[in-house]
Amino acid sequence: MLKFKLPVLVGLVLLAGISLTTVVAAELPAFSPQKHMGVATCANAACHAVTQLEEPSNVLQNEYSTWLFHDRHSKAYSTLLSQESQDIATKLGIKDASKADICLDCHADNVPVDNRGPEFHITDGVGCEACHGGAETWLSRHTLEPYSAERNLADGMYPTAKLGARTELCVSCHVGNEKKLASHTIMGAGHPRLSFELDTFTIRQPEHYVVDQDYLERKNLDNPIRRLLVGSAVHAQSVAKNLAGALVNNPKGHPEVALYDCHSCHHSLSDLKWKQRPTTAGLKPGAIRLNDSSFILLAALSGALDIDLQGRMLLGIKALHSASTKSVEELQLAASNLQALSFDSQTLFESIDLNDADKRKMIEGLMRLGVQGEYRDYVAAEQAVMAMDALSYSLPSEPNLSDVINRAYRYTQNDETYKSDDFRKDLEDYLKLK
Ligand code: HEC
Ligand code: HEC
Ligand code: HEC
Ligand code: HEC
Repeated sequence: MLKFKLPVLVGLVLLAGISLTTVVAAELPAFSPQKHMGVATCANAACHAVTQLEEPSNVLQNEYSTWLFHDRHSKAYSTLLSQESQDIATKLGIKDASKADICLDCHADNVPVDNRGPEFHITDGVGCEACHGGAETWLSRHTLEPYSAERNLADGMYPTAKLGARTELCVSCHVGNEKKLASHTIMGAGHPRLSFELDTFTIRQPEHYVVDQDYLERKNLDNPIRRLLVGSAVHAQSVAKNLAGALVNNPKGHPEVALYDCHSCHHSLSDLKWKQRPTTAGLKPGAIRLNDSSFILLAALSGALDIDLQGRMLLGIKALHSASTKSVEELQLAASNLQALSFDSQTLFESIDLNDADKRKMIEGLMRLGVQGEYRDYVAAEQAVMAMDALSYSLPSEPNLSDVINRAYRYTQNDETYKSDDFRKDLEDYLKLK
């Protein structure tokens, strides 16, 4: 589908019984007023730590063991005890990473001490309530019959089922913001570079819920494509918000370095790989490029549905780069514009369901932007590959497409050895053959 009339589609979506994600911003679990009761209060053998289901249930009830054995979030605190973390801490002049708020804010459910119930343990890391919200006000009521998602939300559960709110939650730690950031100072001490894409990371986490008929009746539509689309739009908004706020008005004299593309500074001097990208036209060789990968991805995805919106986003990205060489105020203004455009994409994406032709068009749109040279920076290539994969695995199997995506993963396996020309050429060859 090329263009569509929004009201008609909204009507169809409502008819289909799918509630649109509302734009009401829920307080993130870390800032909500109710107490966090601790993982132990969820992990009862009759609740979310069931080994063998005896009665039918809406939910899997084995969420605890999935989290404990397969989900890195349960290890987020113990990571702070590792040698790697202690080395980072030493370089930062921190005595103990496992006691420092600057680490705990992302590696644990670091709510104020007054907001911790008797069974709360900081050592649980990113526990259930770091995502689902403090349970004080809903623990005893969320099992009432009949089940009501609305009642749970009203009781203070975080709306993780709403993809917009879910992405805001994930990116608060996986991208960071003014309140908590893996800053370049922390990176410089050895912290790994962060990246995020909601669908890829949902599967990698992995999910401890199943989207079946019962889920759809109780909650929202949740599938890889919606996660990719809504997730990307909200991810881009949070990056834009960082670029429009205090992080670029840094008293140290320059915007926070972690907002830039790492490899625009970090690469070997003999590796002369500088080439202009369409959206960085205007930046001279040697200019430090902002990490615009979330905007590039969003522009690529939007193009299949609204070519005009894509045009405005690409111009917006160009304006962002140009503003980054001028003044903090101009940078913030350009970022606010991108935030608004990313919100427009979110609205667009929340109102539609793609058919297979739309998905193919979107994949080709992603590839075309690569052929035009927009994936010269590793970070953009990395986002594009995760998106192509999410789109392709929801299509009937196409061997040539799977092959090109497998190769794309190989090209982008390592940010230090990424060869953008080879990747570009491969995408070009694939599109030519089609
Ligand atoms: C409170 C902060 C926080 C929130 C909220 C959060 N994460 Fe994480 N996440 C982390 C930390 C910290 C790690 C690294 C844990 C470790 O290995 O020590 C991590 C690790 C992960 C990993 C493993 C990454 C890898 O390299 O394999 C995935 C996948 C992931 N998170 C997905 C998500 C998703 C999806 C969401 C939102 C639904 C989310 N996270 C929300 C902090 C958070
Ligand atoms: C803005 C949130 C944030 C802050 C602040 C933060 N981290 Fe992390 N950290 C993460 C996330 C998210 C990951 C997982 C990255 C991934 O795999 O995608 C991670 C990964 C790590 C890893 C690698 C873990 C592994 O599984 O390999 C170490 C070590 C680490 N962090 C230590 C620290 C220390 C020490 C501090 C404090 C100085 C800190 N972090 C502060 C979010 C954060
Ligand atoms: C990193 C974030 C994160 C953590 C940590 C986490 N969850 Fe979830 N959980 C989610 C997301 C996202 C969903 C899917 C959206 C939804 O249904 O609300 C979900 C869904 C659920 C569901 C609902 C399934 C359904 O069919 O309605 C249950 C129950 C649940 N989680 C329990 C737990 C328990 C228990 C823990 C701790 C052992 C936990 N979660 C830890 C993010 C998280
Ligand atoms: C504006 C240029 C610039 C950008 C962009 C940049 N860095 Fe750096 N980085 C530096 C400088 C300068 C140093 C200090 C080098 C030194 O002390 O030898 C440094 C140091 C480091 C170090 C420590 C290296 C060492 O020898 O111990 C790491 C790790 C690092 N940066 C990671 C990152 C990551 C990850 C990103 C992207 C999020 C990034 N950098 C973005 C300029 C940059």
